[in-house]
Amino acid sequence: MKAGTARQKMKMAKHEMLIDTDPGVDDAMAILMAHDRAEVVGLSVAAGNVGLAHTVANALKLVEVLGARTPVYAGCAAPLVHASPDAADVHGSDGFGDTGYAPSARHAESEHAALAILRASHERAGRLVLVALAPLTNVALALKLDPSLPERVKKLVVMGGAVTGRGNYGTVPAEFNVGFDPEAAHVVFTQWPRFTLVDWEATMHHGLDFDRFETMLAKGDARARFYDSITAKTRAWSRERGRPKLLIADALAMAVALYPDIVVRAEAHHVGVELDGRITRGATVVDWQDRLGRAANADIVLAVDHSRFEALLASAVGAA
Ligand code: BDR
Ligand code: CA
Repeated sequence: MKAGTARQKMKMAKHEMLIDTDPGVDDAMAILMAHDRAEVVGLSVAAGNVGLAHTVANALKLVEVLGARTPVYAGCAAPLVHASPDAADVHGSDGFGDTGYAPSARHAESEHAALAILRASHERAGRLVLVALAPLTNVALALKLDPSLPERVKKLVVMGGAVTGRGNYGTVPAEFNVGFDPEAAHVVFTQWPRFTLVDWEATMHHGLDFDRFETMLAKGDARARFYDSITAKTRAWSRERGRPKLLIADALAMAVALYPDIVVRAEAHHVGVELDGRITRGATVVDWQDRLGRAANADIVLAVDHSRFEALLASAVGAA
């Protein structure tokens, strides 16, 4: 790490952060970023990109790669109400690119993820930053167990939704995290008074040049080498599909959670979740003109400082 960067990092008051996650290769980058810049008090894990056994194993492996002691809590193995297809086609059938990595010798804690979220909110009342990078099943369950949870959480940042209907999952307008468990998203969007939303369309706006990203990985340390191996399949998949850029949704949300001042454009509105709909289940419906007279529940991130985002990625893999 360069001296300037090290000094900058030391000056920062570290966020106390709990990450709800379903790793997943873009979750992996977000988790690397968080360990680079924040005090990560735990990873609460849900099913999503792939099944819970894999997402938990992947979280444990990442903690090992990082040489960290971050506790990992296994949570919900399925959406609240309806079963949903996963995203193994994007992330690999194990969620980490099917590299056959040696599993970590570590184990998940015995506490359920939803209970760990509630406990952390008491232990760090008013300081805890909750970053939700998975379907919202664990967070919704925690909220149902204790609706006063938002009073103790400093900030909730959610990666989810497609705010003008250009989604990436199932029905045309749905985004994966909301579309996988719309009922959980509905619980959170109706019961959390105000949260920050980083959606799929912001992710598309902040795509990364493949060659530039790969050059950056080549300059990094062991974190970069691990990330390079688990993302090779996803990068090939993205290129084959003709995606012009590499999209790392959860990393963008993490950048916003770590540095709220990275946001250069945002709007506050009410956002609801479509639970039925012939072709719209899982859509996030934004009241862009505030016509319904409902209080805004979401600060919707529309753009961030892209070069700062790239610098955070480089730092997270030891390439800065
Ligand atoms: C989100 O869905 C998952 O596949 C990714 O990990 C990310 O959290 C993007 O739509
Ligand atoms: Ca995720």
